[in-house]
Amino acid sequence: MLAGKHILLIIGGGIAAFKSLDLIRRLRERGAEVTPVITRAGQEFVTPLSASGLAARKVYTELFDLTEEAEMGHIELSRSADLVVVAPATADLLGKMAGGLANDLASTLLMATDKRVLVAPAMNVRMWEHPACQRNVATLKDDGVLFVGPNEGAMACGEFGPGRMSEPLEIVAGIEAALADGPLKGKHILVTSGPTHEPIDPVRYIANRSSGAQGTAIASALAGLGADVTFVTGPADVAPPSGVNVIPVQSAQDMLAAVNAALPADGAVFAAAVADWRVASASDSKIKKDTKGSLPVLEFAENPDILKTVSQMGKTRPKLVVGFAAETDDVIANATAKRARKGCDWIIANDVSPETGIMGGSENAVTLISDAGAEDWPRMSKDQVARQLALRISDALS
Ligand code: CTP
Repeated sequence: MLAGKHILLIIGGGIAAFKSLDLIRRLRERGAEVTPVITRAGQEFVTPLSASGLAARKVYTELFDLTEEAEMGHIELSRSADLVVVAPATADLLGKMAGGLANDLASTLLMATDKRVLVAPAMNVRMWEHPACQRNVATLKDDGVLFVGPNEGAMACGEFGPGRMSEPLEIVAGIEAALADGPLKGKHILVTSGPTHEPIDPVRYIANRSSGAQGTAIASALAGLGADVTFVTGPADVAPPSGVNVIPVQSAQDMLAAVNAALPADGAVFAAAVADWRVASASDSKIKKDTKGSLPVLEFAENPDILKTVSQMGKTRPKLVVGFAAETDDVIANATAKRARKGCDWIIANDVSPETGIMGGSENAVTLISDAGAEDWPRMSKDQVARQLALRISDALS
């Protein structure tokens, strides 16, 4: 799938740089050409010789190197690639990118390129969570930079949390999605997914059993067809797909704000299992057990209906709005009524009665309800449902 593609791989200075050597190998196995650029700090972790050996190409390290300028200037180097990949993307490199600094070869290439940039961050968990880093990440996402990871796990520094660089094959999947020259290239599609968590107090919340599997598969299939996907996800069990712009949220209200911020879009798929109600006045401090034994009473408020809000928007309404209807009784009748009530174009209806094993399972049996009527799809894997739906969306948007 990457045959003939040219990747400019910037290797930053982090312990994860050793994985970037494997990344070069994996990309070349798939037919890509890789030109490595190693920052000065990166060279403390991997040598230009090993990167050059694996890439079977010259490795670039210095901005002011006359030989290199004579062979290929930094502007040309930044534009001859199909995609610029930064792995590991350190806090320093992300900061330079967000701030528009260009004081070495890597940062100058990143400023000069006219190609998409995909980054695989790697840093200590505290650095990743630092407000300065999160501000930079938000700026870069706004600029259209694609993120793969970071993953959560044990780190070389002994701490635990998000900050580990994604594995080479995850980065390859992100690169393949970014370079997919599919029928949805140039289309922006928004996908909501997962459950929402509605706080009761700082330690307790109300949630539902959605795993996020179907929404994740849909986002991945759309990206596979070349769409530029914004993936707004509640706290799901499954990891978000590579090659999409992930916006993590907690509550229904957060999800609506993230959806509004992501618009305009050509299409929108609302696969999230949004909580219909939230606790009216969630407590700022942990609710303590009453020593006299009286029980707390929770009062609920209605959450915004995100699908309905977007379906009924004026100018900013995406051309195609797709909702889901998870039902346990009278599936088609309820879903048809839901489609009319919400004002979306299509509803994907499914029976989530416990005996179907669909909620939390790997298969789904859905009916597509549109102006044309109800179309039953055979029971198939959630990945297959996602691929079929992505193809239908692609037909509708082209
Ligand atoms: N939805 C949403 N915002 C909500 C509730 C639901 O965007 N606050 C979306 C879901 O993502 C899904 C569709 O609406 O695409 C239908 O969700 P569902 O829970 O089946 O519908 P409800 O309107 O909540 O109806 P009910 O629970 O009464 O069946």
